[in-house]
Amino acid sequence: MLAVLGCAGSRDPDPDRDGIADDCVIPEHGLPADVFCTGLQLDRDPGQYVERVAPYEPGVTLWSDGAEKQRYLYLPPGTEIDTTDFDAWQFPEGTKAWKEFRFDGRLVETRLFWKRAPSEWASGTYIWDASGSDATLDTSRMPTIVGDDYEIPTAKDCGKCHHGGADKLLGIEAVALALPGALGVTLQVLRDDGRLSWAPSSPQARLPEDSTGRAAAALGYLHANCGMPCHSSRGLGDETQLLLRIRADEIWQLPQHGAPVSDATEAEAYAATVGVEPTTASVAQRFPGALRVTPGVHESSLLWLMTDRRDDYAMPPLVSHKVDPAGTKALAAWIDAMSP
Ligand code: HEC
Repeated sequence: MLAVLGCAGSRDPDPDRDGIADDCVIPEHGLPADVFCTGLQLDRDPGQYVERVAPYEPGVTLWSDGAEKQRYLYLPPGTEIDTTDFDAWQFPEGTKAWKEFRFDGRLVETRLFWKRAPSEWASGTYIWDASGSDATLDTSRMPTIVGDDYEIPTAKDCGKCHHGGADKLLGIEAVALALPGALGVTLQVLRDDGRLSWAPSSPQARLPEDSTGRAAAALGYLHANCGMPCHSSRGLGDETQLLLRIRADEIWQLPQHGAPVSDATEAEAYAATVGVEPTTASVAQRFPGALRVTPGVHESSLLWLMTDRRDDYAMPPLVSHKVDPAGTKALAAWIDAMSP
């Protein structure tokens, strides 16, 4: 069953037709094949954006092998995000989030998550042609490699990481949008616009620090790159108990929660790593004697050893083919500054 967006009686979750051409075909489920039918850009022009779609950047971000990224959020007019559980936001029907990836200013892919019904998200990525004028939904089962080694994940891979979101989205969460580097749709903007069903009195946050003065940078890297997608109680890396996500209740005093942490050493990401042995037998065998974090020695700390490589033991274990130089450096600096 196909419905044409905008026709009388069609199932149109997006009352704002800006940018969506009349001849757009939107399937009942899933995503349209043409990126210009998703509602991000106007008049089939990759450089013109629909006004109601708001750009943003979380205060900590995922490393994507050096790609330049721009993110956009659309919340249908008059809707709010259910933030009753401030650490597990639930988005209104009709929510869309896009992420564009560019190299040297040239669009390579545009990823989309669209909440089409109360518990139905459609997701996928649009691959741009060489001229950068059109992009089509990627339906291949194998990843597409662009240039030397930039990997465009398959639709199946999206879920492996986005499973870590309480309601699919990952960076559109309290902590990431409240940190100093957050831009555009920040926690403050969402709160002031009446888009949150609940918000703390202070919509700003800082990551916890310890006596090294280097914990916040390292924990921020771990939060976005490991904790948000996998290493949390709701991600696929849960069984290792290597919990690296900074929870909202560690930052703010939330209803029905204990006091927030006053120092990084009280954070779960600290307790799960510093001086802790690995739980995975193959990892222990490959890196004998290494702890998750060996204070003072990044070379025998698994967090650094595994994020600083791209072989069978690499973290993250999918999509990325290049080490994040800034992230691994922040991690090493934190570990080396700890007293052994
Ligand atoms: C390696 C893990 C990983 C994979 C695979 C992945 N994502 Fe994400 N994605 C993330 C993380 C982490 C964020 C939040 C941080 C950021 O935006 O830098 C994110 C953010 C996004 C956003 C912005 C909204 C949000 O959730 O914060 C969109 C849209 C998105 N991803 C779409 C996709 C789609 C579509 C796919 C599959 C084609 C995909 N992603 C595959 C980890 C991943």
